[in-house]
Amino acid sequence: TLSWVATVPPAALEEHGVTKAHVNGINVALYAVEGEYFATADLCTHGNASLADGYLDGDLIECPLHQGTFNVKTGEAIDAPCSVAVRTFPVKLQDGVLHVGWE
Ligand code: FES
Repeated sequence: TLSWVATVPPAALEEHGVTKAHVNGINVALYAVEGEYFATADLCTHGNASLADGYLDGDLIECPLHQGTFNVKTGEAIDAPCSVAVRTFPVKLQDGVLHVGWE
């Protein structure tokens, strides 16, 4: 079953469109794309880099280490050297806080 974990208010995403939060012992990257919210695991699947430190362009997050990209909505690896999808999580806004769904 899905449990919802409270993370950060949407305002935390205003500056960069992306921020990091702790959820059940791992780091999750939260994204704002055209008024909708998405979440992926924060750790790049290519190496030891934080996607939340990367550059969000539309629905693509560019890894800060080797500039590979992922679609933040689907987790799909888009640009090399990334080739393995990153895990995604459902997000909902409740009581002014973004909640990440955990299975
Ligand atoms: Fe992310 Fe290499 S660690 S692209």
